[in-house]
Amino acid sequence: MSEDGVRAELIDTSRPHPARIYDYLLGGKDNYEVDQRAGDALVAAAPEARIGVRANRDFLRRAVRHVVRAGVRQILDIGTGLPTSPNVHETAAEVAPDVRVAYVDNDPIVKAHADALLSGTGVTSVVLGDIRDPRGIVDHPDIRRVIDFDEPVALLLVAVLHFLTDAEKPAGIVAALRDALPPGSHLILSHATGDFADRTDAQAVYSKATATLNLRTRPEVEALFTGFDLLPPGLTQVPFWHPDTPPPPGSAQIGFYGAVGRKPV
Ligand SMILES: C[S@@+](CC[C@H](N)C(=O)[O-])C[C@H]1O[C@@H](n2cnc3c(N)ncnc32)[C@H](O)[C@@H]1O
Repeated sequence: MSEDGVRAELIDTSRPHPARIYDYLLGGKDNYEVDQRAGDALVAAAPEARIGVRANRDFLRRAVRHVVRAGVRQILDIGTGLPTSPNVHETAAEVAPDVRVAYVDNDPIVKAHADALLSGTGVTSVVLGDIRDPRGIVDHPDIRRVIDFDEPVALLLVAVLHFLTDAEKPAGIVAALRDALPPGSHLILSHATGDFADRTDAQAVYSKATATLNLRTRPEVEALFTGFDLLPPGLTQVPFWHPDTPPPPGSAQIGFYGAVGRKPV
């Protein structure tokens, strides 16, 4: 066991993991030297990476508050990442105390840390699942225990689809998830892009990680919202989606698009 109770065999320190690189860039402690080296290389290749991940996380929280205020009471968060306070269930609870959240990630270390944090909270489940198997997620008994697919759901795909290659057909995966959701459901999505700066060197950092980084253009990211109506202001760089504080200096360079869509009734 590690000091925070995660079984040692789950901890692969031979390769950087996207969840742990992200945790490192956010200033978390659930990462290892291999992830720290990758994170530092990422910042060297893309100097706005640190403010970018914070801006992405802030977008996630603003978007969650937005959909909960709109009446959504259940959230399916796929590619949830290592727990980062405030987590999605905490952010949702700021607006409404009765929101149920199901967390999914394909990294066993994320599940282990999330289980340790969330045990006993009751309304939240944590599932080890891969977005490349959308049906396996939707049909999972621990998801069905928390999410009622006859009632509107907020589907969170925040900073996860860029870990899928084109051959893995991310648009088809989003469509399969969309078809499982009833009208009135929302999609909160963010995605890395090279539209604002050449990020070839940043992609190279992930070539040694457990998943590759697949940057996509504005039209490619917009196409992921097929079957959803984009809520104003549409697809923007994440700091500019309903900012509640002035966007930080350097925001125009941030390589993350984000938007919220609603499945029409
Ligand atoms: C950059 S983190 C994003 C965390 C959080 N969604 C956020 O935006 O703050 C990406 C997460 O996606 C997970 N991930 C990558 N590929 C995945 C897949 N095929 N299925 C499920 N999760 C995946 C990683 O393990 C990691 O925890």
